[in-house]
Amino acid sequence: MKDRKLKWGIIGAGVIAVKMADALHLNPDSEIVAVASKSVSRAQNFAEKNGVPKACSYDDIVNDDDIDVIYVATTHNFHFENAKLALEHGKHVLVEKAFTVNTREAETLARTAEERNLFLMEAIWVRFLPSIKLQKKIIAEGTIGEVKQFNISLGNFVSPKYEKRLKDPALAGGVTLDMGIYPISFVCYMLGEQPSEVKSMSRFSGLGVDEIADYMFRFPSGCLAVINTSFNLLMNNSAMIYGSKGYIEFPDFPFGEKFYIYTHKGTNEIKTTEEITEKNHINGFIYQVEEVVRCIREGKTESSIIPIKETIAIMKLMDKMRAEWGFKYAFEKEQ
Ligand SMILES: NC(=O)c1ccc[n+]([C@@H]2O[C@H](COP(=O)([O-])OP(=O)(O)OC[C@H]3O[C@@H](n4cnc5c(N)ncnc54)[C@H](OP(=O)(O)O)[C@@H]3O)[C@@H](O)[C@H]2O)c1
Repeated sequence: MKDRKLKWGIIGAGVIAVKMADALHLNPDSEIVAVASKSVSRAQNFAEKNGVPKACSYDDIVNDDDIDVIYVATTHNFHFENAKLALEHGKHVLVEKAFTVNTREAETLARTAEERNLFLMEAIWVRFLPSIKLQKKIIAEGTIGEVKQFNISLGNFVSPKYEKRLKDPALAGGVTLDMGIYPISFVCYMLGEQPSEVKSMSRFSGLGVDEIADYMFRFPSGCLAVINTSFNLLMNNSAMIYGSKGYIEFPDFPFGEKFYIYTHKGTNEIKTTEEITEKNHINGFIYQVEEVVRCIREGKTESSIIPIKETIAIMKLMDKMRAEWGFKYAFEKEQ
């Protein structure tokens, strides 16, 4: 594998798979072999438009000996069955966020990959963006002192191309699995720990999914976080990270390139203000593709940037919050 390209298959011929296909074309160590869909014509149409040589069914793609790794790009409700099918056929797997609908599914996938010594990762692509990595480095260097509080909002009126997916409970829609995952994952990444205490509330849409959700976390380090998220409200879309010696203001959360650092000496007087711009490639998926290639070439079964145990811990957190709201998807009640 070290001296040849990694060969990819895509399951789910939808909106986000287009961006991934573009990122795979941009990666010199990757080659897209096939795209699979439940609909033959959707797969064919996708293949023609996105330079993919083969369009096929799910069974064909997982049985294709020419494919090393499968990217699962279906809606949340299908992630578990699609990823499990691929792992059971000996493929490494990259699964779109949210990794699964619940912890039970996530743990089963982790076990399946471990038993077969296969690579498995949740596609939390923003963790690999240069602008995010730089903020983590600045925090680790102690520039703003001990981090004590995060305030993050992520909300907008969902665009028509994503509307069905976000609003439909049968597709495991809802703001937490779809958008809340970004600020939750961001805070855990920046701190390198997961919450020890959680309080949350949500407001439900007419179709019965969480459309506004507010989370409060306490971390083992003592840091607190307040997160507001919605697919049906335009919010400030920013992250504020407050430390004992200053704070970071990150507008255009989570994809922005510009952020500001304010420092002080433990008083209310700001001593320095710095504006930083760290460019991300226009297709930010290229960095996670590089990570998957690197890990698989090195024989790793997970990424240290988003390890499976952290994905599972975050799924547990989201399960806990949904339990607080008495919210189960109908298909989960039959599981
Ligand atoms: N990383 C990011 O920035 C980002 C952005 C957007 C979305 N996402 C994630 O990517 C995944 C897919 O999102 P998307 O916007 O690409 O979704 P989408 O275009 O609505 O659908 C993707 C695929 O899911 C299946 N699907 C969709 N609706 C279905 C339905 N009603 N019945 C049966 N199958 C259905 C289809 O798979 P087949 O073609 O195989 O039938 C479809 O091609 C989600 O996990 C989402 O959270 C990530």
